[in-house]
Amino acid sequence: MLCKTRFFFTQNSLVLNTLHRSKVSRLSIAPILKSRSFTFSRFLNNIRSSTRSYTTVGTTGAASTFPKASISDALKASVKQNPKVDPVISDKSVGYWLIGTSGLVFSIVVVGGLTRLTESGLSITEWKPVTGTIPPLNEVEWEEEFNKYKESPEFKQLNSHITLDEFKFIFSMEWGHRLLGRTIGMLFILPALYFWKTRKFSSHVKWKVVGLTALLGLQGAIGWWMVKSGLDEEGLAERNSKPTVSQYRLTTHLGAAFLLYLGVLWTAFEILNENKWLKQIKTSSDSSVINNLNTVFEKLNSPALKRVKLYAGALLALTFITAMSGGMVAGLDAGLIYNTFPLMGEDYIPSKNELFSPIFSRKDDHSDLWWRNLLENPTTVQLIHRILATTTFTALTVFHLYANRRKAIIPRHAAKMFHAVMGFLTLQVTLGISTLIYLVPIPLAAAHQAGALALLTTVLAYCSRLKKPRPETMHYINKLMKDQLMKQK
Ligand code: HEM
Repeated sequence: MLCKTRFFFTQNSLVLNTLHRSKVSRLSIAPILKSRSFTFSRFLNNIRSSTRSYTTVGTTGAASTFPKASISDALKASVKQNPKVDPVISDKSVGYWLIGTSGLVFSIVVVGGLTRLTESGLSITEWKPVTGTIPPLNEVEWEEEFNKYKESPEFKQLNSHITLDEFKFIFSMEWGHRLLGRTIGMLFILPALYFWKTRKFSSHVKWKVVGLTALLGLQGAIGWWMVKSGLDEEGLAERNSKPTVSQYRLTTHLGAAFLLYLGVLWTAFEILNENKWLKQIKTSSDSSVINNLNTVFEKLNSPALKRVKLYAGALLALTFITAMSGGMVAGLDAGLIYNTFPLMGEDYIPSKNELFSPIFSRKDDHSDLWWRNLLENPTTVQLIHRILATTTFTALTVFHLYANRRKAIIPRHAAKMFHAVMGFLTLQVTLGISTLIYLVPIPLAAAHQAGALALLTTVLAYCSRLKKPRPETMHYINKLMKDQLMKQK
């Protein structure tokens, strides 16, 4: 028995950290000290940490600590001894629900893009969160809605020729977009209440869900704030714009949707990863599964991986910023000029006079010349999107080469995900260039928007595969691994 225990101690250094608290570990200390692969300093560390607080990670020395009380509470909850305490790890059904929600958010982004591309977004001139669910049901009601639309600047300046049937189409697009938004709200809030009540959320996920619910509500309000900018005649005159929504508000709406999507998905990945580890431990029939898992945890906790994580986070942020600059291009219809790539007209970069034109300045002293051109001049905004897209492409490619040379420190399942990143990156750049060259046809532009989300999804999945387990999770897993190895003995 001692022999097996020694194997267990020397091979499963993560488990080691929990054992000094058990009877078995006391029995086993002498053989461990003799073992070649056991270092005395690690043993001392374990002893020291046991007098202060619980050690939660393995051999790397990068231990995180937290108070005894919270751990024992959490552990009790996880083994369902105390149904009044939240579990350490959320139920996997929560993870699946969040994946479903992220799919719905993905689809509403695409529907929103189609609503913009078919120029339907300004057809409903009111915001009625509850009664707006019911569309016009007879010809009289359709006429009423059409008459309201006839008061809008879009009808007066651009659409005075449209028929009732054409109006019905643009109304249905915008109504469908809003209805999907309400449906997502319901499909998020009602299950969240159920999971909360039945204690399927860990306390850590609970507060994330509260934050995501707030962001979801805010998104509806941002949507109406955006539409209002296209209905307000004074604002349009001030912007010197045709009746379209402000590019700032469009990008805020797009950005909030992307953040909601990424937040939901990140939480889902975390829960599903944790459940996958649990399943692997619980169903492991021999120590090799646990050893493999230990190797993964060692890699995830290793200080050598810190730099890779930092780069991956920066790349996620860069891809997000590039997507937001795409929102500005879409908001200004800047894809309808300079439809060549890589050249813009005769040159790679248009002249300085065109990029920083005084036409866009609204102050007599031109003190706003720079920032107004950077954010409101379609030529400059398109150039910025090209530069950011090229930078994103180069940075992700260089990182791919860098990561390929660090196979020893990057877990294999993370490394595999980066191949998917490269695939979606290539697709996205191809779609972007095609959208530009073919003058923004609806199918290509919609695919380019969806492609941005797909690319962000893979980069986020990569980051989540590099994330080390939370201290509470690690502690719980340590305990399970110990129990499982004992059972196998
Ligand atoms: C990493 C690469 C890229 C990302 C993440 C990205 C992202 C985006 C996003 C999110 C939009 C807004 C779509 C919408 O709201 O409808 C957009 C628009 C646009 N992008 Fe990109 N883009 C990338 C590369 C490119 C490239 C290389 C080009 C070509 C030079 C390009 C050209 C355009 C054009 C023309 C639009 C406006 C389309 C419209 O009006 O609907 N993009 N991009």
